[in-house]
Amino acid sequence: MKIHEKLKKSYDILSKHYEFDVDTKTFNAYYERPAMIKAIGKIKNLRVLDAGCGAGYYTKWLIDNNAKEVVAIDFSKKMVEATKRKVENKAHVLELDLNAKLPFNNNYFDMIVSALTLHYVKDLNFTLSEFKRVLKENGVLIFSINHPIMTYLYFSLENYFEEILLEDLINKVPVYFYHRSFDTIFDALYNNNFFVVNMYEPKPTKDFLKMDEKNYKKLMKKPNFLIIKAIKSNVTK
Ligand SMILES: C[S@@+](CC[C@H](N)C(=O)[O-])C[C@H]1O[C@@H](n2cnc3c(N)ncnc32)[C@H](O)[C@@H]1O
Repeated sequence: MKIHEKLKKSYDILSKHYEFDVDTKTFNAYYERPAMIKAIGKIKNLRVLDAGCGAGYYTKWLIDNNAKEVVAIDFSKKMVEATKRKVENKAHVLELDLNAKLPFNNNYFDMIVSALTLHYVKDLNFTLSEFKRVLKENGVLIFSINHPIMTYLYFSLENYFEEILLEDLINKVPVYFYHRSFDTIFDALYNNNFFVVNMYEPKPTKDFLKMDEKNYKKLMKKPNFLIIKAIKSNVTK
């Protein structure tokens, strides 16, 4: 079975974990999500794509915060089903692969939110070219990914600069993702007219400390996730 199919199968298995547990897990609830939500900012009246929606946490948040229209996509059938259960008919939830062309019109969305997903795509440049196509001029892209420093250190990589596929375990289920250097990430953004307006290296919240002091102390010294906010703009060229 190809890596891509294996990953999809893994996320089908993990969909239960995402639907029932993740919303209270420290790394999501008290670390990545508060920082992403701060980075996203106001979404009232915006047409937003949730790319790699998982069980629909951000999809629901976008609806609850008055986005004009929310489209959520994921390549895992089980994740799509979980998101549909969560948001019912308040969003369009579609089973789609970010490694392929997206079935949306050019210049359709005001914003794309993609949480902890882009490190899984095979060709970041391709996926960003699709994001560029479907976003309006001055549309905003906000995404979180594994921090390149974390993957470099945690996986004891020999070469920081080499783009490399790595295997990790989430709840004992194997997942396969790419380590990409800052240079690779920023190059792909630049090539696709994304002008980076901010970059965040989140710190855990005080609630994290109450629940897991050991990891809180670790995360206060070593980054785990990276958040980037960029605007589709000709300014980059
Ligand atoms: C770590 S989960 C994050 C889910 C959600 N964004 C959240 O933060 O709760 C990553 C998600 O990306 C999806 N994914 C991975 N590769 C994908 C691809 N090529 N196309 C679409 N979805 C993908 C997985 O199925 C999974 O639901």
